[in-house]
Amino acid sequence: MSPPPDQNVPNKTVHVRSWGCQMNVYDSQRMVDLLAPLGYRPVDEAEGADIVILNTCHIREKATEKLFSELGRLKETKQAKADAGGNMILAVAGCVAQAEGPVITTRARHVDIVVGPQSYHSLPELVARASRAKGEPILMTDFPVESKFDHLPEEAAPRGVTAFLTIQEGCDKFCSFCVVPYTRGAEFSRPAADVLVEARRLALSGVRELTLLGQNVNAYHGTGTDGASWTLGRLIRSVAQIPGIERIRYTTSHPNDMDEELIAAHRDVPALMPFLHLPVQSGSDRILARMNRKHTAAEYLAVIERLRAARPDIALSSDFIVGFPGETEKDFQATLDLIEKVGFAQAYSFKYSPRPGTPASSSAEAVPEDVKSARLARVQEAILAGQMRFNRECVGQIARVLLDRAGSKTGQLHGRSPHMQSVHVAAPGHLLGQIVDVRIEDGRALSLTGTLVPTEPHGMVA
Ligand code: SAH
Ligand code: SF4
Ligand code: F3S
Repeated sequence: MSPPPDQNVPNKTVHVRSWGCQMNVYDSQRMVDLLAPLGYRPVDEAEGADIVILNTCHIREKATEKLFSELGRLKETKQAKADAGGNMILAVAGCVAQAEGPVITTRARHVDIVVGPQSYHSLPELVARASRAKGEPILMTDFPVESKFDHLPEEAAPRGVTAFLTIQEGCDKFCSFCVVPYTRGAEFSRPAADVLVEARRLALSGVRELTLLGQNVNAYHGTGTDGASWTLGRLIRSVAQIPGIERIRYTTSHPNDMDEELIAAHRDVPALMPFLHLPVQSGSDRILARMNRKHTAAEYLAVIERLRAARPDIALSSDFIVGFPGETEKDFQATLDLIEKVGFAQAYSFKYSPRPGTPASSSAEAVPEDVKSARLARVQEAILAGQMRFNRECVGQIARVLLDRAGSKTGQLHGRSPHMQSVHVAAPGHLLGQIVDVRIEDGRALSLTGTLVPTEPHGMVA
C-alpha cells in the first residue's frame, strides 16, 4: 500500500522525459508514482516544474551528447525558475546515468541528482536530500542488494487500457555490441506473486492489454506462487486468468530462450497475442558468432518454425544491426536472405554503433560509414516491402482491434490489431477502450484503415 498523499505538502509538479525502450517508459511512470505521495503531480512541460527528470538511454551513439545539449537548455529553465523565486531539482536517470554518472556530475554542475535504473526507488529520499543540500550533486548508481520493486508504491493514477509491467530486468547474455548488461546489471526475475498482484491492480484500474517487459523477458525464471521456479510461459497462463486482462504481449525476447512452455502458451492461451518481437540482429553465422549471439541463422529459423507450428497466424518482428565490424557484402546478403525467408510483419534496423566498454568497440575491422548507410537503406527497403506485403494481405479481413486513442482525423479512433498493426477507423469516442471488429479496407506500409463492423445488440465488445 502506498501512503496517502500528504495534505500539508503544497501542490508541486514533476516533468519526466523518457528515451529508449519500453522499460524506461515503465520506469518513468513508476518515478511519477514514487513522487505522488510527496505532492508532486506530472506535467508535460519542463518550464516551471519543481522536478525535471531525464530518463536516458545509452544503447546507441550520441546518447551522451544529446543528454548534454538537453542539460544545456535546462540550465536556462532552472535559472528562470530560480529568478521567479523557486527551485527546480534536475535529475538524470536511466542507462546514461548508470554508465556516465561521474562525468555528468562533473560536466553539468547544475544537475542535482544522478540515479541509475536499479536505484530510482530512492527518489523520494534523494529529492529530500537535494532540497536541503542545494548545489551538491548526489550520485546514486549502485546495484543495490534489495530489489527496487519491493519499494515501489501502487500506481498513482490509472494507466489507460494498455499498460507495461516489468517482470524481468538485466541481462547475462553479453552480446559483444551491447551496453545493457553493464547499465542494467545481472538478470533478475520478480516473484510471480508480485507480478500477479500488480497485474490484478492494473486490470481493476481498466487495463485490458498488458505487455510484460524485460530486457530478456523470455529468460524469466521467477519464484512461482507454488514455490517452484516459473518460466514465462507458466506466468502467462496465470496472468491470462485475471479477469479484465484480455490481451497479453511480452518483449523483448532472445531466440535461445524460446522454450517449449512458452511456445505451448502461444498454442493454448487465447489472450496471448499472435505477435512476437524476436531480434536476430544478422542473418550471417559468421557475424552472429562475432556478436556472441550463441545461435545460428538456421537455429533462429527453426525457432520460428516451431512457433508457427504452434500458432500458424503468428506475426514476427525483429531487430537488425548492419555494418557490424567485419561484415562483408556476403554477410549482409545473408541478412537480406533471412528477411526474405521469414517474412517479417515489421522490424527495426540500426547502423552498428561502437559502445564504450563493449568488446566489439575495440575491433579494428570497422565498416566505413558510407557502407553502413547504404546497407541500412537496403535493409530498410526489404523490411518495408515485407511490411507492405503483410498489411496488404489483411485487406478484406476482419480484425479485432483494441481502440486505444483518438485518431489523427476527427471522428477517427486508433487501435491495434492482434498483430500489432496500427488501425485507423471511423468510430464514436465512447468506443475508446473497447475491442471491436474492423473490416480492413486499406493496407499501407505503416498502418491499416477499415470500417467498424456492426455488432449484435448484446455481447461483443469483449
Ligand atoms: N534485449 C534485446 C534488445 C536490446 S537493445 C535483445 O536481446 O535483442 C535493442 C536493439 O538495439 C537490439 O536488438 C539491437 O538491434 C540494437 N542495438 C543494441 N546495441 C547496439 C549497438 N551497439 N549498435 C547498434 N544497434 C544496437
Ligand atoms: Fe543486449 Fe544481447 Fe542482452 Fe539483448 S541479449 S540486452 S542485445 S546483451
Ligand atoms: Fe536504452 Fe537502457 Fe533500454 S540503454 S534500450 S534504456 S535498457
